[in-house]
Amino acid sequence: MGSNRSKLAPRTFTAQGLGRVAQPYGDIVPPIHPSSTFERAPDGSFPAGRIYSRADNPTYDGPEAVLASLEGAAAALLFGSGQAAAAAVFQALAPGDRVLAPRNMYWGFRNWLSGYMASWGLVVEFYDNASIDDLAAKLRAKPARLVWIETPANPTWEVTDIAAASEIARKAGALVAVDSTCATPVLTQPLALGAHLVMHSATKYLNGHSDVVAGALASAADDDMWQRIRQVRASGGAVLGPFEAWLLARGMRTLFLRVAAACANAQAIAERFERHPKVSHVLYPGLKSHPGHAVAARQMQGGFGAMLSLRIAGGEAAAKAFTARLAVFKRATSLGSVESLAEHRASVEGPNTMCPPDLVRLSVGVEDARDLIADIEQALG
Ligand SMILES: Cc1ncc(COP(=O)(O)O)c(C=O)c1O
Repeated sequence: MGSNRSKLAPRTFTAQGLGRVAQPYGDIVPPIHPSSTFERAPDGSFPAGRIYSRADNPTYDGPEAVLASLEGAAAALLFGSGQAAAAAVFQALAPGDRVLAPRNMYWGFRNWLSGYMASWGLVVEFYDNASIDDLAAKLRAKPARLVWIETPANPTWEVTDIAAASEIARKAGALVAVDSTCATPVLTQPLALGAHLVMHSATKYLNGHSDVVAGALASAADDDMWQRIRQVRASGGAVLGPFEAWLLARGMRTLFLRVAAACANAQAIAERFERHPKVSHVLYPGLKSHPGHAVAARQMQGGFGAMLSLRIAGGEAAAKAFTARLAVFKRATSLGSVESLAEHRASVEGPNTMCPPDLVRLSVGVEDARDLIADIEQALG
C-alpha cells in the first residue's frame, strides 16, 4: 500500500499532473499518443514496453499515476467507462464465487450484476448498506469472495463505514472493492480504510466536464487479482480512447477546486431546504439529521460530497412538476460536472427501480449557490 505516495500535497501534485514534463520539448501539458501499435526492435523486443493499444496506451500513464497517488494505491487502470471498470472486478472472479453488493447502489450496475453476472455463475446477494450488522451476518452465513461497497450510495446516499466493513470482510477472507465515484479521491481514500480496490466512474468528478465517459480502478497491491483485472481489460478490450484519456487528464488537474466548490454549494442547498414545507426529506450526509452523518464525518474529509436528493412533499406528480420548473439546474442524467443537473430518478431507472417516486436527485455544480437556491425555491413554487 502507498507505493505511489508523493511528498507533495495531493492538491499540488494533482494540479501539476505529478509535475511530469514531456521530453524532448519540455511540454508542460502531456502529449496524446494516438498510435494503436508500437514498433518492435530487430531482436523482436518492445524497447518502450508498449505493444498494442488494446492492452495499454502511453496517454493513460499520467492520469493513472495521479489516481494511484491520490488513492495511495500500488497501481491504477483506466477503462472505457465506469461500468467497464466495475465489471472488470467481477469478471476477474470465477463462476460459483459468492459476492455481496449493497441493496441501494447505482442501478445500472445493480442490474448488470443481477442480470449478466448472475447468469455467468456468480452468486450475487445484496446487503443493507446502512447496516454493518447485516453485512456481518451475511458474511458469517456463508463464505464470500468479494464485498462491493458504494458510499455515499446513489441516489439515496446511505453511508457505509468502509473501515468497519473492511475489517469484517478481511476477517472472513473476502476482498473489498469500493465504488468511490461520489466520494471522490479528494474526500475519501478507501484503501487507507482497509479496502483492496477502489473504483471510479471517471465520467463524473475526475473528469468533471460532462465530455468524457471513462472509468478507473486502483488497487492496494499489485497482486494476482490485479493481474487478472489487467488481463480482463487487455483481452476484453474495454479501453479508453487516447483523446478521452487526454481530456480526462486535463479535467483531473482542477479536481480539488471543483470538488470543494461543489461540496460547499451542496451543503448550503441541503441546509437551506432541510425544513422547507414543500420538501419532506433532504437526503445528504452533510446534515446532522442524516443517519450516516457520524460515519461520513469520520471517513470523508473536506466535505460530504456534492450529490443530494430532495423528496418532494406531494409525491411523484409534485416531484415531476418541480423538476419540470427548474431552469438553472439542467434536466439530465449523470453527475459530478461543473454544471448542476437534476432528474426525477425513478423515471430514469424504470419499472424495477428501488428509488422513492417523490425523489429528485441533484448533482450540484460549481455555480453561485444563490442562483441554485433561487432556482430550487422558484421550482418548489
Ligand atoms: C456511482 C456510480 N457508479 C458507476 C457508474 C457508471 O459509470 P459510467 O456511466 O461511467 O459507466 C455511475 C454512473 O452514473 C455512478 O453514478
